[in-house]
Amino acid sequence: MRHAIPFVLLLIFCLSIPANLAWRPWPYLFPNSSAISGEPDTERELGASKKYEGSSEFVHLRYHMGPVLTANITVHPIWYGTWSPAQKRVIRAFIRSISPVDHAAVHQPSVSAWWRTVRLYSDRTGSNITAAVCLGAEKNDRRYSHGKELTRLSVQSVIRTAVTARNRPLPVNPRGGFYLLLTSSDVGMEDFCGNVCGFHYFTFPSVVGYTLPYAWVGNSGGRCAEVCAYPFAIPSYVPGRRAERAPNGDVGVDGMVSVIGHELAEMASNPLINAWYAGGDPSFPTEIADLCEGIYGTGGGGSYTGQLLVDRRSGGSYNLNGVGGAKFLVQWIWNPYLNYCSGPNALDK
Ligand SMILES: *[C@@H]1O[C@H](CO)[C@@H](O)[C@H](O)[C@H]1NC(C)=O
Ligand SMILES: *[C@@H]1O[C@H](CO)[C@@H](O)[C@H](O)[C@H]1NC(C)=O
Ligand SMILES: *[C@@H]1O[C@H](CO)[C@@H](O)[C@H](O)[C@H]1NC(C)=O
Repeated sequence: MRHAIPFVLLLIFCLSIPANLAWRPWPYLFPNSSAISGEPDTERELGASKKYEGSSEFVHLRYHMGPVLTANITVHPIWYGTWSPAQKRVIRAFIRSISPVDHAAVHQPSVSAWWRTVRLYSDRTGSNITAAVCLGAEKNDRRYSHGKELTRLSVQSVIRTAVTARNRPLPVNPRGGFYLLLTSSDVGMEDFCGNVCGFHYFTFPSVVGYTLPYAWVGNSGGRCAEVCAYPFAIPSYVPGRRAERAPNGDVGVDGMVSVIGHELAEMASNPLINAWYAGGDPSFPTEIADLCEGIYGTGGGGSYTGQLLVDRRSGGSYNLNGVGGAKFLVQWIWNPYLNYCSGPNALDK
């Protein structure tokens, strides 16, 4: 649910995973990184040290009997703040690539093949997460209806504003609707940049009138790209590491794509925070994308992304193809059968 500095957390759990667990031998690139000693307070605040210390909890991803998203998912973006048409095009293309109208027209490894790992999760009746994810009605909130500093609670008010607007409200769809609040880089959010790049949850009937799954993802461009748009920007405490070029030429937005994929995968597998997660504490669930943060290809782990593809024309690094020739870099997802992170660009399938 929480999307944090990838290598700090990964490093901690890599080092603490006992060797007898089914774990990929990811290289520990920065075993003595100052990142660990430099960030202990952040870790503790997050509850992350609790999560990552117990190590074996990690791989014991469990099903807690709640629903997963088996109904067709309709994503409703809410564009909060200032968005250019080019930025919207990138994010829409990613969402449309999950279940493209014409599968054959998309090169492999594809975004829809990436979603296959998410579809491995099922509910108590044996129904799998849906293959159908489509882009639904959208809403612009150009005037920053709830200001430029949002909180976890005010996010729900933004969604209420969108579904109750007098002019073209978003449809209310508690069964397959997914409300995706995207904030422009001039909008702040509680804990944004410190340790959170996105989160998902569900709205409270007392605030919004309905229980609707939603996520927030912020544009970190010019704000904290080295935290939330890694590896398109690199923190100064990782020496000698070159930033990857963003496949769509927009560090902030290309970084958001992976966080959107992260939140979408977790929302589908744990929409009410009572389905698939690891760890004993539902207030700090470790979900199917949390386990693979910062891993985009074979060998990934620590601060290493794993093997990426490079677009010859733009020089951009990516791992997935989408509709219309689009390219994206999206983190892998925990595979419950292999018991490690996997994606369609794996070299050792
Ligand atoms: C890390 O620290 C340990 C113990 O302090 C030391 O033995 C080891 O050589 C260090 N490794 C690196 C890569 O600096
Ligand atoms: C769900 O999506 C599939 C594939 O896009 C489509 O064939 C089906 O009609 C949809 N079902 C509903 C209930 O909308
Ligand atoms: C659906 O989930 C089951 C596990 O419950 C899994 O074995 C199967 O491969 C999944 N199907 C798809 C299409 O992913």
